[in-house]
Amino acid sequence: MPEWHDVAAFEDLTPEKPLVVTIGNTSIGVKVWRDKVFAVVNRCGHAGAPMAYGEIHPTMSSPSPGAPVEVDYDKPEIRCPWHHWGFDLGTGACTAPIRRPRLRIYETRVEDGRVYILA
Ligand code: FES
Repeated sequence: MPEWHDVAAFEDLTPEKPLVVTIGNTSIGVKVWRDKVFAVVNRCGHAGAPMAYGEIHPTMSSPSPGAPVEVDYDKPEIRCPWHHWGFDLGTGACTAPIRRPRLRIYETRVEDGRVYILA
């Protein structure tokens, strides 16, 4: 049964400096982006890259070739630091057009300046 874990002070997290925590036997990367906290398993399903060092971006898409690119800041994705596969930070689904393994995403919350992860 997952439990909430107090992992850090929110003020200690910066976009440039990821936090890696271990809960049970699982390494989890904790990232902040646009004042939101995200927690992901710290191992890419492709070749094991440390996802804590992936960059977070808004989702970018184009409905058809040559159409303007649409940027959605409400639907961020994290990009693997080694081979740059993207993963939706809401669902963990890989955003590459072909089927890839999901990334485990953990629920987070900030309360009284502390960051909690449900794991
Ligand atoms: S290790 Fe993540 S895409 Fe290859």
